[in-house]
Amino acid sequence: MANLKTKVLLTGGAGYIGSHTAKLLTKHGYEVIIIDSLFPSQSKKFYGNFYKLDLAEEEKVLEVLRKEKPEIVLHFAAFISVPESIEKPFLYYENNVGNTIKLLSAMKKVGIKNFIFSSSAAVYGIPDIIPVPETAELKPINPYGETKVMVEKILKDMARVKEINYVSLRYFNVAGADPEGELGPTYKQPTHLIIRALKVAKGEIPYLEIYGTDYPTPDGTCIRDYIHVMDLAEAHILAMEYLLSKRENLVLNCGYGRGFSVREVVSTVKKVTGVDFKVIETSRRPGDPPILIADNTKIKEILKWRPKYNSLEDIIKDTWQWELKQNEN
Ligand SMILES: NC(=O)c1ccc[n+]([C@@H]2O[C@H](COP(=O)([O-])OP(=O)(O)OC[C@H]3O[C@@H](n4cnc5c(N)ncnc54)[C@H](O)[C@@H]3O)[C@@H](O)[C@H]2O)c1
Repeated sequence: MANLKTKVLLTGGAGYIGSHTAKLLTKHGYEVIIIDSLFPSQSKKFYGNFYKLDLAEEEKVLEVLRKEKPEIVLHFAAFISVPESIEKPFLYYENNVGNTIKLLSAMKKVGIKNFIFSSSAAVYGIPDIIPVPETAELKPINPYGETKVMVEKILKDMARVKEINYVSLRYFNVAGADPEGELGPTYKQPTHLIIRALKVAKGEIPYLEIYGTDYPTPDGTCIRDYIHVMDLAEAHILAMEYLLSKRENLVLNCGYGRGFSVREVVSTVKKVTGVDFKVIETSRRPGDPPILIADNTKIKEILKWRPKYNSLEDIIKDTWQWELKQNEN
């Protein structure tokens, strides 16, 4: 176990997953420092000592690291949209890889060696094995996934010569919101299915597109492994405690090991909200693998991770509660 009041620095800690993790870390007694280029929105409570800073500003990041001396860095900051990464690949390489290198360089200068990386199931591309284990070949099919593979390669090579201790968490489809209603997704232009569907149910978006109904799946739509953001936050704490006590590098899938199709998600959103919204079926988008489901044996065995929110209906209910609350503000 890490000591209470261990200082933890979160890049991207004002974002969706980072903010939920910051809250849980605070509850567990950790001291949280955040570097993010955005202020958390007014409607959102946030946890931690906040520095509004872009990771591109390496000297300023170095100053924060020197001042705060965190024991470990949780690196969430990145651009996250697959379609945008196809349109603007350089932007993604520059931020997700270039700025990660700047961060690692600043950490090296200050002597901070512990690192948790927000990787993604996008590293697997179209996997040959479902559920996909961590040992599967890495063959991303979009620049976003490439950026995650590149950073993982850098970490692996640095770890080989003991320049870093790291855990790379490969998240599957993160969804849900803080069940206490304080935090939730605040994407300005949400591309994630559940959030988009709820915004359609609310009347903020006129209809929901289903991209592709001719995939090799039982109902023709893509299948994804949706993981509740609070279970993912818990996985970070376990990974951190493991790393700080054992100093062993790990790569772990974060998912529930079961999948839902786009049509199943749409019908559950309609059931939870009670709104029969408009759905338009359209052609496939580039960069979407048909099925992505995690083999989560390793995280359960090594970290003893036990999900508490493994229900699609609860994931949608928590996000709906958050969405409805946004109208009250
Ligand atoms: N949401 C998912 O389903 C999912 C799945 C797999 C992996 N991930 C990864 O998880 C991480 C967090 O994703 P999220 O969903 O919380 O996204 P998010 O956009 O809500 O959060 C990312 C945060 O990083 C900040 N940021 C980005 N670039 C920065 C920079 N150069 N300097 C400082 N701050 C910067 C943004 O301002 C934002 O607050 C990302 O690395 C993403 O690739 C997310």
